[in-house]
Amino acid sequence: MSAAFDALKKEAAGRPFAAIVGWPVEHSRSPALHGFWLKQHGIDGHYGRLPVEPTTPALEALVAFLHTTPNARGCNLTLPHKVEIIPLLDHVDAAAARIGAVNTVIKRPDGSLEGRNSDAFGFLAALIDGAPRWTAPKGPVVVLGAGGAARAIVASLMDAGVPELRLLNRTQSAAVALGAAFTPDDGRRIAIERWDDRNGVLDDATLLVNTTSLGMKGQPPLEIDLARLPKDAAVNDIVYAPLETPLLAAARARGNRCVDGLGMLLHQGRMGFEAWFGTKVAVSEAQRQAVLAA
Ligand code: ATR
Repeated sequence: MSAAFDALKKEAAGRPFAAIVGWPVEHSRSPALHGFWLKQHGIDGHYGRLPVEPTTPALEALVAFLHTTPNARGCNLTLPHKVEIIPLLDHVDAAAARIGAVNTVIKRPDGSLEGRNSDAFGFLAALIDGAPRWTAPKGPVVVLGAGGAARAIVASLMDAGVPELRLLNRTQSAAVALGAAFTPDDGRRIAIERWDDRNGVLDDATLLVNTTSLGMKGQPPLEIDLARLPKDAAVNDIVYAPLETPLLAAARARGNRCVDGLGMLLHQGRMGFEAWFGTKVAVSEAQRQAVLAA
């Protein structure tokens, strides 16, 4: 394990650095998206990859590495570490605590480590970019899936003011738990619907979001008939490999506004980058193309 820490330190060569931490991390697009911003802004820093096994000792070693390496500014976390890292950090901000997952770690000036979650922010920023005419209070929203990504997305949609959220998951008990955790006490509803009823819950929806892994390369497609979805609804698939999932292709063919999953990945990166390297950044078409080409 220490070989991976040593390799990253060597790559950074004394410059301020961060990294994507996961198991595996070889296929992560994060180095490409942060590398684009480093180059764009002429920052003498580094963003690498750090494979860390899914065990408590390995995560403790990561925390010790971040604490004791002066030029380490923090990291991003991906599967399977987003939940297990929480008890090992010095601070966890309110949004990450509520979502129950940390994807961004920032070293504070006093050297302590703070966990944040930028997925909710990234999701909403990408949605506003891709479907600028969609607004939360307009009407019901349908969310498919109740895994880790769905937690951040449901939180962000309820916070944005969605009047009714219809939540469906293959394993209904997960949807029930998620709905209970994020139902506000102001009368707005998270309605748990049956996975098999997904074609029928699309009436009056202003937005359909797929947070499941269905449609991802190597996974089966999401089987859904969009006939009852209003033509002016937006469709957002958080899968980004491929960029045009069968769901988005079907939605685009019938004239729905489509939002692909790459925007969420790019926008969620802003929070970490700005904290680690002290420079404000924006998502651009040039960055999208650079990340797709990587
Ligand atoms: P992530 O963190 O990316 O959300 P996850 O927590 O593993 O990943 O969640 C995956 C989601 O895809 C879940 O909602 C899962 O449904 P279950 O809770 O029933 O497992 C959903 N999913 C994965 N494969 C599926 C399939 N073949 N059919 C329906 N839903 C599926």
